[in-house]
Amino acid sequence: MAAHPRGPMIAPSILSADFAHLADEAAAVGGADWLHVDVMDAHFVPNLTLGLPIVESLLKATTIPIDCHLMIENPERWAPPYAEAGAHNVTFHAEATDNPVAVARDIRAAGGKAGLAIKPNTQLDPYLEILREFDTLLVMSVEPGFGGQKFIAHVLDKARRVRKLVDAGELTVLVEIDGGINMETVESAAEAGVDCFVAGSAVYGADDPAAAVEKLRALAGAASAHLEH
Ligand code: DX5
Ligand code: ZN
Repeated sequence: MAAHPRGPMIAPSILSADFAHLADEAAAVGGADWLHVDVMDAHFVPNLTLGLPIVESLLKATTIPIDCHLMIENPERWAPPYAEAGAHNVTFHAEATDNPVAVARDIRAAGGKAGLAIKPNTQLDPYLEILREFDTLLVMSVEPGFGGQKFIAHVLDKARRVRKLVDAGELTVLVEIDGGINMETVESAAEAGVDCFVAGSAVYGADDPAAAVEKLRALAGAASAHLEH
């Protein structure tokens, strides 16, 4: 398995940031590759966070590409506007729609990168065929809804499998992992071939969020370096 040419990407999740000071919280992780924004509707998941108006404001407040993770019902209706607004990635849940390919195409047509998210117990097989329609596969390593939960290691089998297909030239998706990523778990995810690491509490719970981003990147880089052959 080859290490990612661009090196590991880190996406701090603002779910663990101070929602009253989001522009400052974005600035506090200036070295991040993406800024991960969790949109929750209190229907697909029990929690409620923020929506399009706040994402539009954040887009004006930061130059970090915005990585929208939509934990919402009816992505057919609600996902494309995030791409139209200028979000870099618009990722929705496979479990939330019967027609993920149509949603992905609408996101791409609106100028965004399309991401497919799967919950920890969602099987990969039914979606392998359609991954060519996506730029990112987001493998959830906790049940979606809340930050600060414990990492579920068995999901790494899905990351490993997709990464092998990417290395074999059969797919081009980036593999992103979300949930429970911290200084203890990031290396195992990197060894499984993950490209992008979302971290909420491990970044915004740290005294120095920017240093936490760099430490996660260094740990992931060292763990994936020996994957090169
Ligand atoms: C959970 C969210 C995550 C969350 C991760 O549903 O999708 O992005 O912020 O938080 P940590 O890194 O604390 O597990
Ligand atoms: Zn997320």
